[in-house]
Amino acid sequence: MKTFRPLFRLKKYFIRYKRDIFWGIILVIFSNVLYSILPKILQYTIDQMENGIPIEKIVLFAALFVTVTVIHSGLRFFMRQKLIGMARKIEYQLRNDYFHHLQQMSLNFFTKHRTGDLMALATNDIPSVSMTIGRGLMFLLSNIIVFIVVLTLMMRTNLALTLISLIPFSLAFLVVLKSMKFFIRTFERIQSQFADLSSKAQENISGVRVIKAYVQEENEIESFRQLNRKYLHENLKLALARGVVWSSMDVLFGLSFVILIWLGGLAVIRDQITLGEFVAFTVWLGMLSWPVISFGWIINLVQRASASMTRINRVMDIEPEIQDTESCDQSICHISGHIQFINVAVAYEDLMVLENISFEIAIGKTLAIIGPTGSGKTSLIRLIPRLIDAKAGQILIDGHDIRSIPLQVLRRHIGFVPQETFLFSETIAENISFGENDAKFEEIGRVARLSTIHEDLLTFPDQYQTLIGERGVNLSGGQKQRAAISRALLRQPNILILDDALSAVDTYTEEKILNSLRVQNPNQTKIIISHRISSVKHADLILFLKNGAVVERGNHRTLMAEKGLYAELYQQQRLEQALDEL
Ligand code: GTP
Ligand code: MG
Repeated sequence: MKTFRPLFRLKKYFIRYKRDIFWGIILVIFSNVLYSILPKILQYTIDQMENGIPIEKIVLFAALFVTVTVIHSGLRFFMRQKLIGMARKIEYQLRNDYFHHLQQMSLNFFTKHRTGDLMALATNDIPSVSMTIGRGLMFLLSNIIVFIVVLTLMMRTNLALTLISLIPFSLAFLVVLKSMKFFIRTFERIQSQFADLSSKAQENISGVRVIKAYVQEENEIESFRQLNRKYLHENLKLALARGVVWSSMDVLFGLSFVILIWLGGLAVIRDQITLGEFVAFTVWLGMLSWPVISFGWIINLVQRASASMTRINRVMDIEPEIQDTESCDQSICHISGHIQFINVAVAYEDLMVLENISFEIAIGKTLAIIGPTGSGKTSLIRLIPRLIDAKAGQILIDGHDIRSIPLQVLRRHIGFVPQETFLFSETIAENISFGENDAKFEEIGRVARLSTIHEDLLTFPDQYQTLIGERGVNLSGGQKQRAAISRALLRQPNILILDDALSAVDTYTEEKILNSLRVQNPNQTKIIISHRISSVKHADLILFLKNGAVVERGNHRTLMAEKGLYAELYQQQRLEQALDEL
């Protein structure tokens, strides 16, 4: 029972499709009862033949046989429709719920789980559950009914013959039970190896540029081959074991028939049973072999589905780390962009990366963050759309604690350009209008001009309708960044965050973009992260971060006067620029 517990979670789906299940079960019962009594017609026909039956009666029996077979096939057809259809509908719901759940998860979840594993859940585990609740349920019910009806009919015909001919059947059943554990363990190993294999393939395809640049094709082929070989090895082991079990079952079933023909034949000769009964008996014995063989298969299927369901439940049970809490104030439906940090700290697991961060930025002002790599700039701005939550301190937006603002509202008012640009495999226009599906073409053009990508797009074969390959392969780094900026601008956000989003753009273009951003919306609060002084010098407030702390703050003029790290960086970058221009 413990094994089946994970499957109890499907209850809500079963309730939703209870009508299909009800009719499915009714059809299973009727079709299998009809199937089990077919040999009875055969028995009557043969017995009547022995007594010299008129030809019309034979035709009648034949017609009866055909009718029952046709009805039985019809019922089976509808039974499959109901039960397999129900399973497919549940699979559809389950997959939707799983995808919905993944969309709720916070950033941290995706750093803890491999993409390959998450994909395997959708491509392997969900179908495995669906297979069990469809075919598994159908065969299990059918087998139980066939077993009960056939056995009753056989025993009523001749009890002793039934018991003797079923001895090898019990042995076959034992073989099935014994081998089941091995099958299940091997199958679990195969599943986990398949997840490794998918992860490997998936990472290789996404990381193909690195692999080629480092000439690692051969190594990657070899390590993939090793994983694949392990997978093959386990599969061969499973195939071998299956072969042995099937063959031994064949032998045991054969033995049953030998006993039946021998003892049954004697019984016919001694007139203890009729020839018709003997023939019916033979057919019934044949009918029983499938339930015995498939019993192991069904249990295996259920165990497999249960293991799959455990994996699905494990992911589905993870609560989104960041979501609306009870303190959320649903009356807040707008934010203007006044941001205040009070002694904020950030930690990943137990690693403290930011401490004691305090600043305030008024509506329409620009905050710039500069500092060496790894100093915590990205971590700081991730707090604003709540991609992560602060470990300590308080963040206020328009005077509201950030946790009291509904996530939807908060994120809707923020235009966020992350440090790593991601473009979907769609057209450029679709990429820019992501999340704003009904954006007008003029609007897309306006933001593309603001981020200076418009001219570049005109040179492409299909201009705005040019399809971008996976991750935008046919755009340059700077073009991708500017497409991502256009995407953020299109939402007309009250808070615009650029995380090193102009790093791949030359200083001249950068200056042009920043200038146009400055004038396009005076009420927009801007946060700009950069390694270049040229990007940050016009900001109203500049924070210089080092080792997770603000070490200098002010505007360009006051920071230069301070003659600290900022001024030093400025001199250094000016010198580099002067050397470049030589
Ligand atoms: P650059 O983008 O390189 O200029 O650095 P940054 O200033 O943006 O640094 P960031 O905020 O990305 O990282 C600060 C520290 O946090 C670094 O030591 C990172 O290793 C660490 N860090 C960043 N993201 C994560 C994360 O998702 N998990 C964990 N455990 N550590 C992280
Ligand atoms: Mg960063």
